[in-house]
Amino acid sequence: MTNDVSHAGGFYLTKPVFFIGFMGAGKTSVSQQLAVTYGLASIDADEYLELREDRIIADIFAEDGEEGFRDIETDVLRDLASRSPRLIGCGGGVVTKRPENTTIMRDAGFVVYLKVSADEAARRIPNTDSRPMFKNLDTARKTIVERQPFYEKAAHVEVETEGRTIREVAEEVASILQNEGIMVKE
Ligand code: S3P
Repeated sequence: MTNDVSHAGGFYLTKPVFFIGFMGAGKTSVSQQLAVTYGLASIDADEYLELREDRIIADIFAEDGEEGFRDIETDVLRDLASRSPRLIGCGGGVVTKRPENTTIMRDAGFVVYLKVSADEAARRIPNTDSRPMFKNLDTARKTIVERQPFYEKAAHVEVETEGRTIREVAEEVASILQNEGIMVKE
């Protein structure tokens, strides 16, 4: 992420904004860019989950399996959905295994689907060791196809990230949120 952002500052959110999409779509980076530029609160759901559990995700998968991780993920999502509105970067599988997660997000807030291809995601993630679900490019290509309908069903809007900078994507999201009356000047 670049540091030469212009600070538009002084905005607030009327409801939580959830970023969904495959690993490497830019959910964390785009929400951080928006937070810095517009003075909004943001949080990465997986980082919050790791802090709460005092364990890294790779260890949670190794110790409790994917099911164990998904239980914690739903609990964290409920927790974040009930707090004061902020930008929330979600894990890539959040809407794909637990239908209730889609309900939690759509009931509480606005859901932005950041779209990316598996090939572009692989280029953006130099080290996939911390992402147990990435495995390899072939698997990632299949997983994206399987997940696509879930992302689309959960999303209020879809934003293409392929070949675009974090700042370009963030600006598109900012104008969507302002048009929707979700991001408001103080
Ligand atoms: C996962 C994506 C990861 C993390 C976990 C599972 C997935 O988050 O939640 O490793 O199933 O796609 P990111 O999308 O932030 O990498």
